[in-house]
Amino acid sequence: MIDTHSHILAAIDDGARDLTESILFIKQAVDQGVEIIFATPHSFDGVFNCTIEMILQACSDLMELLEKKGISIQVLPGSEVRVNHNLVMEYDKGNLLTLGDGGKYLLIELPTLFITKAVSLMIRQLKDRGIVPIIAHAERNPMIMEKPEITAELVYSGAAIQITAGSLKGEFGKPAMRTAKVLLSMDQVFCMGSDIHPGRKYRMADAKKSLIKLVGSTNAELITRENPFAILESVGSLSKVCI
Ligand SMILES: [Fe+2]
Repeated sequence: MIDTHSHILAAIDDGARDLTESILFIKQAVDQGVEIIFATPHSFDGVFNCTIEMILQACSDLMELLEKKGISIQVLPGSEVRVNHNLVMEYDKGNLLTLGDGGKYLLIELPTLFITKAVSLMIRQLKDRGIVPIIAHAERNPMIMEKPEITAELVYSGAAIQITAGSLKGEFGKPAMRTAKVLLSMDQVFCMGSDIHPGRKYRMADAKKSLIKLVGSTNAELITRENPFAILESVGSLSKVCI
């Protein structure tokens, strides 16, 4: 499996508090069959603003430790960028880190409340620049919970939808679980991520079992492996990132 959303980098946001906790998260991922994990610390969320340099350095430190410990997993850099009025401008200034630093897929987090048309416009502006925004944990957004069909407009504008593994197991409440299932039934889910933080369980394996029950094994493979491979293709030579 490929985990497309995690907070495993040490002491950089509200994710792993130190390298010991980073290793703990990674061991859980490896035990659950994850071979590649994107490290996506918060950026531009009003609390944390992890710069590209900070993320690449933390990723490099973690990979060095994993190599020393003989733990086999690929960690790729990325970020989870909070949607704000300046997002496209920050992209143009080169301040946003795409998944795998591949220059194509950008993980974005929607505000609690948003104007669909304004977000769709931003998505189209990113699309014009060759970027595919991936909307993190869409099923946990209150507006999408209320009206899941608005994701259709976002997808039509050029975005892809990501769900959190724990949502399928009820970790974020019944509305999020129900919305995740609705998005799956609408065939709108592109990929899944653990969004692992301290205090949360790593649930990719359990969630994949749920996916198989809900959408069948072929679609479960698409969401957990084949679609994320498209992100890897944008990375090109994996040697350019921290593996
Ligand atoms: Fe996250």
